[in-house]
Amino acid sequence: MQTVTIGSDTIPAVGVGTWQWGDNLFWTYGKDYGVPQVKAAFDNAVAAGLTFFDTAEIYGNGESERLLGEFSRRVNRPLFIATKYFPFPWRFGTAVIEKAIDNSLARLQVKRIDLYQIHWPLHLLIPEKTLLKTLAKAVKEGKIKYLGVSNYSASQMRTAHKILADLGVPLVSNQVNYSLLVRKIESNGVLDAAQELGIKIIAYSPLAQGLLTCKYKNTNPPKGARQLDGRFGPKGLDQLQPLFRLLQDIANQQGRTPAQVALNWVIRKGAIPIPGAKNGDQALQNAGALGWELTDVEMAQLDRATGSYL
Ligand SMILES: NC(=O)c1ccc[n+]([C@@H]2O[C@H](COP(=O)([O-])OP(=O)(O)OC[C@H]3O[C@@H](n4cnc5c(N)ncnc54)[C@H](OP(=O)(O)O)[C@@H]3O)[C@@H](O)[C@H]2O)c1
Repeated sequence: MQTVTIGSDTIPAVGVGTWQWGDNLFWTYGKDYGVPQVKAAFDNAVAAGLTFFDTAEIYGNGESERLLGEFSRRVNRPLFIATKYFPFPWRFGTAVIEKAIDNSLARLQVKRIDLYQIHWPLHLLIPEKTLLKTLAKAVKEGKIKYLGVSNYSASQMRTAHKILADLGVPLVSNQVNYSLLVRKIESNGVLDAAQELGIKIIAYSPLAQGLLTCKYKNTNPPKGARQLDGRFGPKGLDQLQPLFRLLQDIANQQGRTPAQVALNWVIRKGAIPIPGAKNGDQALQNAGALGWELTDVEMAQLDRATGSYL
């Protein structure tokens, strides 16, 4: 198993995203897939060695954490579970943060959360310092092992890193949107600052929400909210045809799928992709992003083809 380190833990170099588990606002959970499919995703992921799962208290209003707690309780091997706290503008006071941690612990059925992330850099009623201090206290109490952030800019990441360092707690990760179609972190300083500070980049939407699997066509549009995303519309798909052809060519060359190529590109860039899996087949296929490498020439071809997304 190809691995990376977070803090002093060794985890698989690909994680499993679980926003899809229980969410019917963006995804279509409960309509065209449900518990049996996401349970198969969990089982196949673990069987393939993908033991790093990413969830959040807001996914399916707690349902993603609940399902993950139910599934993992039956598994006899260590998992690495990351969840997130959402700093809604109406949340204030430290008690609300402590309660959120306790609620996630209960839904996940664990005594300690491996990685607790601040979902978004929103600091209206709770100043960032207060939030980080409360989280650092939870680390010292043993409720959280590592702290991370999400959607933080380079300067926000530097500030959080400094506040936590002064409290004696490391900032281990920043979870951001990163894929062949969203490459902003390579040009806006996030990737460089993360490397400099020893913070891991966790790449969300590494398949651009399914686009990079090359399965969507004008005749086969996605279900749910993605229909509102122009990239999935006729014009968007048309523009992406050259990239889809390149992904397919490289996939054929490597004996892989376009999704595995897209995920391997993220790994080669030094980030940890967490593709969302709705069913067993997707989880298994995404595990196949590990154990092989795109060549330097293929990396350069993909970089050139997606330079406009920097
Ligand atoms: N921190 C944040 O703000 C934030 C934001 C977004 C996501 N996330 C996290 O990142 C995870 C991944 O991001 P994401 O779900 O937005 O996008 P993604 O991983 O790029 O795409 C996931 C979707 O692609 C399709 N798919 C996945 N694997 C496939 C495969 N092997 N073959 C064919 N189709 C496949 C599935 O949808 P279809 O089958 O319907 O196409 C799946 O729901 C989430 O689950 C969540 O944990 C975090």
